[in-house]
Amino acid sequence: MKKIHLPRSNGCIRTVNVQGDKSLSHRAVIIGSLAKGVTRIDNFLEADDTLNTIKVYKDMGVKIEKKGASYLVHGKGLNSLRQPQEVLYTGNSGTGIRLTLGVLAAQPFTTVITGDKQIVKRPMDRVMEPLMKMGAKFEAANNLAPVTVYGGNLHGMNYRMPMASAQVKSAIILAALHASGDTVITEPVKSRDHTERMLKYFGASVSVKGRKITVKPGVQLKAKRVFVPGDLSSAAYFIMAGLMMKKSIVTVKNIGLNPTRTGLIEVIKKMGGRIRITNMKNRNNEPVGDIVASTSNLKGITIGGALIPKLIDEIPVIAVAAAFATGRTVIRDAQELRFKETDRINTVVTNLKRIGIKAEALPDGMVIHGNGGKPFKYADIDSFGDHRIAMAFSAAALVSESGLLIKDIECVNTSFPRFFSLITSLEGKK
Ligand code: S3P
Repeated sequence: MKKIHLPRSNGCIRTVNVQGDKSLSHRAVIIGSLAKGVTRIDNFLEADDTLNTIKVYKDMGVKIEKKGASYLVHGKGLNSLRQPQEVLYTGNSGTGIRLTLGVLAAQPFTTVITGDKQIVKRPMDRVMEPLMKMGAKFEAANNLAPVTVYGGNLHGMNYRMPMASAQVKSAIILAALHASGDTVITEPVKSRDHTERMLKYFGASVSVKGRKITVKPGVQLKAKRVFVPGDLSSAAYFIMAGLMMKKSIVTVKNIGLNPTRTGLIEVIKKMGGRIRITNMKNRNNEPVGDIVASTSNLKGITIGGALIPKLIDEIPVIAVAAAFATGRTVIRDAQELRFKETDRINTVVTNLKRIGIKAEALPDGMVIHGNGGKPFKYADIDSFGDHRIAMAFSAAALVSESGLLIKDIECVNTSFPRFFSLITSLEGKK
């Protein structure tokens, strides 16, 4: 297992270009594969998770090639996927497997899909249960991957989702494209809406009214050009480092700012962080802009309710910033953290304690007692094989007494292979 000692930083002024958005990269491949014509994807995230998704759709007969810096997806339309010869393998990706389960549920052939050792422990009943209501059949021991999918002959439905999950919602929407009759989905709280936006951009009949999404089936999708903006979830580590480090200004360029993803920015403002957004533009139905974060005196806050799905992946790094803030931070309504690559309530709290922070796990969140901006204590950090834990505590290393040893770091390759070369560029002068 690889590890890295990340030194502390004395602060710096830097501009960082993070890699393409993971959620949008997956969706561009999946939707491009279902569309007719050549979808060109620029700034596609080249990371294990998204490259596994490419392989899954290639295994179902879609020609996908890299040309220069772009990926070209040669889609042949909604009903063109072929039965794969092999078991489909999505690696570590919850988005890859769950969205693809929605696609497979609608295919007139049988498939088996699975993933790595973390994926086979994560719940799949959350997608199988609604898809079964549409007529799909599955076989999965204990509702876990590997899942055998007996697809085809789906009908529309009216479905109230029990949890806010963009992966579940997207699986249903993708299945609904192929169903007979309309599908209406109601979310308890709005989750990221990239699937709805991208499908509309490709010409599908998807309408959204508040928390209600209506999908009309049978509309052929037309190939498009997709520019994938920088990933706010990846930028979060650099933004938080910019706020926590002394005498610093960190700019991240061309970041996706879809309002269903920007809870991080709302939280930073509530914590008293100095953050600015500039150069806003629209790229293929998604807002994009630059973010400038400057040294701030952060204060503890309460985070919960409808904000949670808008920042679910950023909670590990928000917890690190809360540990560096003045006062107490309480995070509630975030029980979904227990179903991520690791149980992130436990893995965050465990590592916070190691760097000298008083923190308690709650069933649906955590309480963090901020240390008022004192450098964190030296410790060995265990990523537990979770990319977001490795990256959140790398940001903590920059504001520690003498750096941190981050263990088991290969996992960052799932979402952000260039992470360590970029984060070490914030080390500044010793
Ligand atoms: C994602 C949705 C979220 C998020 C994940 C990516 C997506 O998961 O945590 O990293 O691309 O749809 P849930 O939908 O399970 O909350």
